[in-house]
Amino acid sequence: MLKTVTKALAALTISAAILATPVFAEPIAIKFSHVVAVDTPKGQAAEFFKKRVEELTQGKVKVEVYPNSQLYKDKEEMEALQMGAVQMLAPSLAKFGPLGVKDFEVFDLPYIFNGYDDLHKVTQGPIGQQLLAKLEPKGVKGLAYWDNGFKSLSANTPIKTPADLKGKKLRIQSSKVLEAQMQALLAIPQTLAFSEVYQALQTGVVDGTENPVSNFYTQKMQEVQKHMALTDHGYLGYAVIVNKKFWDELPADIRSQLDIAMKEATDYANQIAKEKNDKDLEAVKASGKTEVTTLTPAEKEAFRAILVPVHDKMADRIGKETIDAVYQAVGFKK
Ligand code: LMR
Repeated sequence: MLKTVTKALAALTISAAILATPVFAEPIAIKFSHVVAVDTPKGQAAEFFKKRVEELTQGKVKVEVYPNSQLYKDKEEMEALQMGAVQMLAPSLAKFGPLGVKDFEVFDLPYIFNGYDDLHKVTQGPIGQQLLAKLEPKGVKGLAYWDNGFKSLSANTPIKTPADLKGKKLRIQSSKVLEAQMQALLAIPQTLAFSEVYQALQTGVVDGTENPVSNFYTQKMQEVQKHMALTDHGYLGYAVIVNKKFWDELPADIRSQLDIAMKEATDYANQIAKEKNDKDLEAVKASGKTEVTTLTPAEKEAFRAILVPVHDKMADRIGKETIDAVYQAVGFKK
């Protein structure tokens, strides 16, 4: 009798487990939406990820990459991810505020990183992991950080000193730190989706912008900006994120293959980011359309002196512990 009950219970447990395991139609599709051109560090890394996933899973997973805001613009893509309309994104770290995770804006603090090595101490260490964990209550899982690069400022008039930006309308991403940064320059920040920037510059809705040169060049901003200064005043890079429910429900063997592909794509992204920005800088110069100014150390210092006070101003928003942890990791001195 006892044996029969035990057997029945075991059968019930197994059927419940089968019911609870979602059945994925094969191939499993991952829609990966992003806003930049294919020929950028993020665009290339997304293509690399697709290729490796399809090889490693022998076609059981198909990655559909939608570049250039083809599917969604900045704000919409976050909502689409949470709703499960797409499974994967790689938004700039400056775009997590609207999701309610303001801590990521630490990456926007002007001059906090003195180059990629500093940055990697954060993105490839415990602070990076702790930040990604903060996404989980939002139904989002962070898988990796992909580099882009350090930003330059552009406008239609020469930029050598902070005063050159006074009163200018400058496009920013949706980050309060970037808003404060532009206000510190006495400029007028305007938040716009990336897909709208070229036209806004062309029509004079904004006077200028900031971006790593790979984004500038691949959006042809050299056609609508006469001057660029290599200020390197801040970093722009990405968190690769997935819909958490989708990820958690994947068969374990598939998830491990995706983990391997993501690790390889991350190494690739971080290896090509600087090269790509350097190459695109040469292309902007060669276009003859945008005059590129390299600042002297003293000129850079003038930007730094005005922009570093933004750190204290934003401490309540970002969290002082997060800022201090980054300071410590990179050895930042005011
Ligand atoms: C921007 O909006 O300027 C960037 O975040 C675009 C990107 O994804 O690099």
